[in-house]
Amino acid sequence: MTTCSAPGKVYLFGEHAVVYGEPAVPCAIERRARVTAEPREDGRVRVEAPDLSLDGFTVTWDDSADERPDLDVPTPLVEAGMGYVNEAVAQARDAADAPEVGFDITVESTIPLGAGLGSSAAVTVAGIDAGTRSLGVELSTEEIADRAYRAEYEVQDGQASRADTFCSAMGGAVRVEGEDRRTIDAPPLPFVIGYDGGAGDTGELVAGVRALREEYGFAADTIGAIGDVVRRGTEVLRGSEPNGGADEELLAELGRLMDFDHGLLAALGVSSRSLDAMVWAARDADAYGAKLTGAGGGGCIVALDDTEATETALDYTPGCETAFRAELATEGVRVEG
Ligand code: PMV
Repeated sequence: MTTCSAPGKVYLFGEHAVVYGEPAVPCAIERRARVTAEPREDGRVRVEAPDLSLDGFTVTWDDSADERPDLDVPTPLVEAGMGYVNEAVAQARDAADAPEVGFDITVESTIPLGAGLGSSAAVTVAGIDAGTRSLGVELSTEEIADRAYRAEYEVQDGQASRADTFCSAMGGAVRVEGEDRRTIDAPPLPFVIGYDGGAGDTGELVAGVRALREEYGFAADTIGAIGDVVRRGTEVLRGSEPNGGADEELLAELGRLMDFDHGLLAALGVSSRSLDAMVWAARDADAYGAKLTGAGGGGCIVALDDTEATETALDYTPGCETAFRAELATEGVRVEG
């Protein structure tokens, strides 16, 4: 029996524009998915996921069962979650050259589903590592990231960037631009996350941006402007002391760029009333900056604040279901216990 965990992520900058080859900077956060894998002889895959959402629910999934379990949670989300587990299993079988092996899998996660925090990438990354290790095979972190990307690509019908899976596998802050992926130095960043309890449909939102860009050529400038924000943000991070604290000037500059990025994302039509309300609550609470994270449409915002003010303000914001602090996770995928 082997347990591995991998972190979720927020986008400090650059979602959506990354689809058009612009750079993006996702950052891993200390909210993890833990996956336990135990090989079984009969080739079947049985999955237990006691807490795949913040509220917590239990789902037991047997890939050979004729009937779907009765669920009190949005079934498409659970189906998608199980899709990632199945693809992770397929990658583990392939990597370990054990096509017939079955698994008992347990997934425990404190990352809200489909809310822009990279829950699927974290489950996939941890699942591939746990699955292969349980068969005595140890993959490099880069190979886990690559296989996790291929797994996401399968589940999402070819609509996947490498950003989430690379960030979850490596940990810390990363910069992704086309095929170029690298970790970058970042000081500890005081992230506060607001969650509206909902989820956006990534495929639909990405398609919406594409349609806007086709109809209004100048939307391409908005996408380019997001790229400029990311380039400036990367320079700001480059000038920081990775092991020192994040000083106020640095946080203020990153915050301004996050605000700028959110405005551009809103112009592309991917924000929502609840995301905007949470962003404004954070700004009113004097956060350094705030923006939606991930595909948008619903889900989470991320703010930078080293005081309690934003978390408290979000707790009283209509439309915000939960607010929590999440430090930058310096460690990516790892073996537990
Ligand atoms: O919501 P998430 O975590 O799946 O992020 C989507 C990010 C996009 O840039 C909108 C799409 C992508 O594949 O990069």
